Amino acid sequence: MQICCRRETLLEGSIVFMEKNKIILDTDPGNDDLLAIIMALKSDLIEVRGLTIVGGNASLENTTNNALSLLTYMDRIEVPVYVGDSSALNEISTSAEEFDDFKSHRIEIHGETGLHVPLPKSNIEPKEMHAVDFIISEAESNKGALSLVPIGPLTNIAMAIKKEPNLANWIQGIHLMGGAINVPGNVTQYAEFNIYCDPVAANEVLSSGIKIKLCGLDITRGTFVEREDTNWLGGNSLGEQLIRHLLDSVFKKLPDRNRFSLHDPITVLSVLYPELIEWEMYDVSVVCSGPNFGQTIGTPNAEGSVAVGVNIDRELAKLKISEILAT
Ligand code: BDR
Ligand code: CA
Repeated sequence: MQICCRRETLLEGSIVFMEKNKIILDTDPGNDDLLAIIMALKSDLIEVRGLTIVGGNASLENTTNNALSLLTYMDRIEVPVYVGDSSALNEISTSAEEFDDFKSHRIEIHGETGLHVPLPKSNIEPKEMHAVDFIISEAESNKGALSLVPIGPLTNIAMAIKKEPNLANWIQGIHLMGGAINVPGNVTQYAEFNIYCDPVAANEVLSSGIKIKLCGLDITRGTFVEREDTNWLGGNSLGEQLIRHLLDSVFKKLPDRNRFSLHDPITVLSVLYPELIEWEMYDVSVVCSGPNFGQTIGTPNAEGSVAVGVNIDRELAKLKISEILAT
């Protein structure tokens, strides 16, 4: 169990106290969510206040069970889990045919249960409080010090912003995985998965005026582990063993895929090393109907509130992720 909330670093002979980054990880595990959660749990510069769960890569029930099982596996059962929304908006906003396509896409990428790797049955339960209320109460009691890190559909975050108008002033900012500003989408030609799941929520979050760092496909898709990259994680920590197993199983189950993109891990990395990413200020809106459903439209604006990741030092990012996972 981690009990320390500060890290001491020796810098030119003096001791410097570094505050940990307090975060709530809003997640829909999800293969790459798994890596991101393990990173956040392992980093000695992050304090995970809780996991809030959203449906997306699988049903809410499955994503919740996956989060609980992962914490059990990692022996981190003190980290609280709060269940949020199932994020099924797309079910009512898209045609039956489009929704079927979407479901096959997510099953192909993440399997029926959301994960391509088995985890032990969890021996913990989620907390009773709704995820949205947890987000609000943590933001209020950690004013100015809490960042939200959504790596799934943005439903819970939008609900929290709507329910508590002060939330925007209480949080430090949002680092989110979603969107495709200057590149094509991955669910459709226009839409990235997390945004496609709930474009209305995404639009509300992105236009909220809150300081956002947007880690979209522009920087995440091209940062990947390759099929033959078997030495990427060389150690034997619990996390590394699980991720090796996961990558192995993903590449076996998807013989046509040679790359595993590090979408969600890069978003956690952006909290720790924002300097590895080149950011440009934009206004971002989301198309909520019609053929471009789920498209994120970015308009450059130096005064905008959304810093869009437009470039990344891929090799260094991969190295940093592997170093954190090795701890
Ligand atoms: C995003 O969609 C999900 O499938 C991944 O977990 C990631 O958050 C990438 O488009
Ligand atoms: Ca995710």
